[in-house]
Amino acid sequence: MKSYSIALIPGDGIGGDVTAAAWTVLETAAKHFGFALTSTEFPWSCKFYKDTGRMMPEDAIETLRGFDAILLGAVGWPAEVPDSVSLHGLLLPIRKAFVQYANIRPHRLLPGVTGPLRAENFDILCIRENTEGEYSGAGGRVHQGTLDEVAVETSIFTRAGVERILRFGFEQARTRRGKLASVTKSNAQKYSMVFWDEITRKLAAEYSDVAVTSYHVDALAARMIMAPESLDVVVASNLFGDILTDIGAAIQGGLGYAASANINPGRSAPSMFEPVHGSAPDIAHLGIANPIAAIWSGAMMLGHLSETAAAGRIMKALEATTARGIGTTPGKDRTEAITAAIVAALT
Ligand code: IPM
Ligand code: MN
Repeated sequence: MKSYSIALIPGDGIGGDVTAAAWTVLETAAKHFGFALTSTEFPWSCKFYKDTGRMMPEDAIETLRGFDAILLGAVGWPAEVPDSVSLHGLLLPIRKAFVQYANIRPHRLLPGVTGPLRAENFDILCIRENTEGEYSGAGGRVHQGTLDEVAVETSIFTRAGVERILRFGFEQARTRRGKLASVTKSNAQKYSMVFWDEITRKLAAEYSDVAVTSYHVDALAARMIMAPESLDVVVASNLFGDILTDIGAAIQGGLGYAASANINPGRSAPSMFEPVHGSAPDIAHLGIANPIAAIWSGAMMLGHLSETAAAGRIMKALEATTARGIGTTPGKDRTEAITAAIVAALT
């Protein structure tokens, strides 16, 4: 029997509830489709930081490297640990160390979910660059605390980094409706984004079957609200993709439905799957977190592990559940009830 080893990092707040829910669904699917999933849980979180002074142990990256994939809940507990510390101590280093350069986020309305827009028939796949760009982490502060203080944060765009994410976008478009929106801001950013546009044009010649359009990020943000059906695959830099995918989450009904995959396409290290939402301290431990984004992320994990039939079945079960109005109104159904309904629909 095929077997996959999964590193589970529930993290903070509702992370524990939603990863437990996702795991229940994944195990059910595995049983049904005849493969095995084993989990090793790591307590790395803000609580771990309070106890040890680190978000994860020094050898965490080496520990994680041996797994087939990582399933992450949520990181952050800003009342006790600043986000700039918790995120730079766990999520961001994993994305970078494992070259998870493609962050994939699907935005569409599940049946029964009402979004804020009149538009209902959109199906957008955002591909966000995940290791460099505006979040490269290059920069510094001098003359701290004085009136002469300077803070510099430098975007890093490498040819290899830009080319591989754009290529990934073209490849995804090819498997879908053949349309790619390349997100730029070359009217204002005359180095990095002109470079991005040049590489977009170069690849467009190679992928003549894909219709590519470059949009400035401000115009694309508006388009996601005014005409989301006109979009198929959207490929963007780290910061632009971060912002646009929160719009994507909003138009699909909220962060409770926003799944994501941090993919290492070359498979030189494990990929990581996580709901986009944070730890939601306000509802942590109330048992009402929506597990749908985490379960959808789990389905993306099975897809990445080539268990595509099981991944497809989980999505069908998710859709059948929301179509019945379960998990479609914030706070109405308990995490466990939504999970149980999805499990029932799976089998
Ligand atoms: C996301 C989050 C993270 C990011 C934060 C928490 C660092 O907003 O995954 O979209 O910007 O990558
Ligand atoms: Mn974000």
